[in-house]
Amino acid sequence: MPATQPPPQPVPRHVAIIMDGNGRWASERGLPRQAGHRQGVEALRRAIRTSADLGIEYLTVYSFSSENWSRPKPEIAFLLDLLRRFIRTDVAQLHEAGVKITVIGERAGLEPGLVKLLEDAEQLTRDNKALNLVVAFNYGSRNEIARAAQALARKVAEGKIAPEDVTAAVVSNHLDTAGMPDPDLLIRTGGEQRISNYLLWQCAYTEFVFVPEYWPDFSADILKRAIAEFHCRDRRFGGLSVQRA
Ligand code: FPP
Repeated sequence: MPATQPPPQPVPRHVAIIMDGNGRWASERGLPRQAGHRQGVEALRRAIRTSADLGIEYLTVYSFSSENWSRPKPEIAFLLDLLRRFIRTDVAQLHEAGVKITVIGERAGLEPGLVKLLEDAEQLTRDNKALNLVVAFNYGSRNEIARAAQALARKVAEGKIAPEDVTAAVVSNHLDTAGMPDPDLLIRTGGEQRISNYLLWQCAYTEFVFVPEYWPDFSADILKRAIAEFHCRDRRFGGLSVQRA
């Protein structure tokens, strides 16, 4: 009689990634940091492909934080250019593969041409269903929460809602991620173990997996191992585990 196989575990619905270690990947090879970022784009393409293949619904990636503006000007210019090129060269293929692109983060103050490029990509792919690719660009969680608070304060001041209408669900609906499920799994590459102002509100019950590999080395295998680790976790959401209930 064949051994009974345990039923396959569902993949996490929403995976968020902090793509860290591009600079160190490059320095260890005696290359400029830019070479690490360039390889980082290849790693991002692999992550998108694997996520779609595995049936992950949402993949959110931290491409440029509000704090990254403190980097040297040439590196900032390179990262912005990389994003522009990525959108220009990959959007048609992503659209064909059924990927819906959403960009989260602060848009005020960005160069209008770049904003238009991001909006066009969102518009083109808005009805796609295969994978939601959420690109966090000029993103910082505290800024996102402050913008949501401002929007809500305005509605209260205009008498459209009462202060007590501001529930957790209403706050969620005013964040850039409104309508998206919270991440189930957050992966950070590069060995650091911190959240760096990323999805602070949304990660209330997210499982964190920190991997030592630098982002340019990210592979299908690393993603699958992180998901296997996620499957070993006992998610209780503040309650009791099923066995102990
Ligand atoms: C962290 O590595 C990475 C970034 C600040 C940028 C992430 C960008 C990419 C992966 C490029 C592709 C993204 C898009 C959407 C085009 P780091 O520079 O902080 O590395 P370090 O910690 O080793 O210095």
